[in-house]
Amino acid sequence: MNFLAGAMIAALVGSCIASPGYLKLDLHKQAPLANRLVRRQSSAGSFDAVLTPNQGLEYLVNLTVGTPPQGLAVTLDTGSSDLWIPAASAPFCKKGQCDFGSFDPSSSSTYQVVEQAGFNITYAYPGDTDAGDWGSDTITIDGSAPIDNQQIGVASVLFDHHGVMGVGYDTNEAHNDGPSGVYQSVMDNLVKSGIIDRKAFSLYLNNPEASTGSIVFGGIDTTKYTGDLVALPLQPSPDGVVKEYYVALTGVSFTDSTGKTAPLSPQGYSQATLLDAGTTNTLLTNDVFGALALGFGAVWDAGGTGAYLIPCSLSNGTGTISYSFGGEGGITIQVPLANIVGGQIYTPDDFDDPSGGCMLSMGTTGESGGFSILGDSFLRSAYAVFDLENHVAALAQADENKASTSSIVVFPTGTAVPSATATAMATGTQLTTIKPETQVPEASISGSSLILAGTPTFNLGISSSTAIAGSGPSSLGSSGACNHAPAPTAALVGLGLAAGIMGL
Ligand SMILES: *[C@@H]1O[C@H](CO)[C@@H](O)[C@H](O)[C@H]1NC(C)=O
Ligand SMILES: *[C@@H]1O[C@H](CO)[C@@H](O)[C@H](O)[C@H]1NC(C)=O
Ligand SMILES: *[C@@H]1O[C@H](CO)[C@@H](O)[C@H](O)[C@H]1NC(C)=O
Repeated sequence: MNFLAGAMIAALVGSCIASPGYLKLDLHKQAPLANRLVRRQSSAGSFDAVLTPNQGLEYLVNLTVGTPPQGLAVTLDTGSSDLWIPAASAPFCKKGQCDFGSFDPSSSSTYQVVEQAGFNITYAYPGDTDAGDWGSDTITIDGSAPIDNQQIGVASVLFDHHGVMGVGYDTNEAHNDGPSGVYQSVMDNLVKSGIIDRKAFSLYLNNPEASTGSIVFGGIDTTKYTGDLVALPLQPSPDGVVKEYYVALTGVSFTDSTGKTAPLSPQGYSQATLLDAGTTNTLLTNDVFGALALGFGAVWDAGGTGAYLIPCSLSNGTGTISYSFGGEGGITIQVPLANIVGGQIYTPDDFDDPSGGCMLSMGTTGESGGFSILGDSFLRSAYAVFDLENHVAALAQADENKASTSSIVVFPTGTAVPSATATAMATGTQLTTIKPETQVPEASISGSSLILAGTPTFNLGISSSTAIAGSGPSSLGSSGACNHAPAPTAALVGLGLAAGIMGL
């Protein structure tokens, strides 16, 4: 069956198996045609985030929509709360450019329009709006029992070339200003339809090389993590309400190849930080990011891709970023250096290191500086549990490459997080006074185009680059106006820039 073409797929023969109380599905990792940067719904006037170019891997879930069922795949997103799919009539889809299928409402006998032109979602990237009709239909999620009358956006005006399934709080829906107010989200309907007992799920993105991760709605897979699973109270959004997956990040440090640990966050750090599977990179507050970037010898390619650049050879280096949550009695998740080395964007012809220039899969939220998001480059190292009914997240260190094992404990109704060994109570808020930015040097250019690599201050266990040897007189301090030609792969990241906008 070819879901890429949005082909009709045969209905699963209805067998009446009692629900096991959970729904486990594979997440398939795939690079879309068009990149996703920050998959976070921008609630008008509340905040903004900066973009950093990235290699845009999506974590996809298979769905069917309609009667007879039409198959397509959508990106899983913890940073938004609506399900929307591209309409087959959208110009991109007509040209065959909808990456993972589309939906033709006129071929579904169960489709109903809720509000014509009633759907419009804008994500954190300016201009990233998808809009169209607001409707309802029967859906199945990767072979689940059918969910009838699920409200969905059917977008005919597309920025993204594929749909999104947001699994956030219903109170954070983009469409809740529609005629019916907050509507039953997919998470609500999974409970209402008896597929799961509690609005809760667990996420395992798996390591960067793995092609498959998984999500368990209504359960926890105890084979997917090592050590303790520690529960953390979800922190309120800036408007004081718990409606997104913010946890208290209480420390960040780096342990180098010699085993020496450098704290990067100040004493008393306690920052409400969003866990967001829809954002590729990890965006930290200015102070912490600056310390890390200088340690890695990153340079900011302000005049080119807008990315922070590091030698690709760092993926062979040694070192670990430790993220601590919940304060005393909390949990620390370790992210190996290799996991924050993004794709190559400059060849050695353009970047003065024999391994070429790669993107650092981290950044800041720019001018706003006080806001942080732990995206995929963090989440791949964690097993993350979200309980929307009790406003709790739980984190453990991911046990990587365990895609095929499974031992699931079901969330019963009630409040306990099954298998969690402790609860760490520290609270966090978003910084209101922005720490002065630690300046990450702008990329310097030698000759007409060669970007000079920076000098790491951490011991990363790799021999330092060939640096300036043989590269003629350098014109340091070159401004953003230089026109170094990106390597061919830079076409993947053609988006420059990092204008952080804060809109409180
Ligand atoms: C989705 O369906 C396609 C086609 O049937 C299949 O190849 C793919 O593995 C499925 N993906 C997931 C995430 O189950
Ligand atoms: C969607 O909303 C945005 C922001 O309000 C607006 O600029 C845009 O025109 C809308 N798009 C459509 C197709 O309605
Ligand atoms: C990592 O090390 C291997 C083995 O020495 C080498 O072949 C590879 O090119 C290195 N990768 C990078 C990105 O430098």
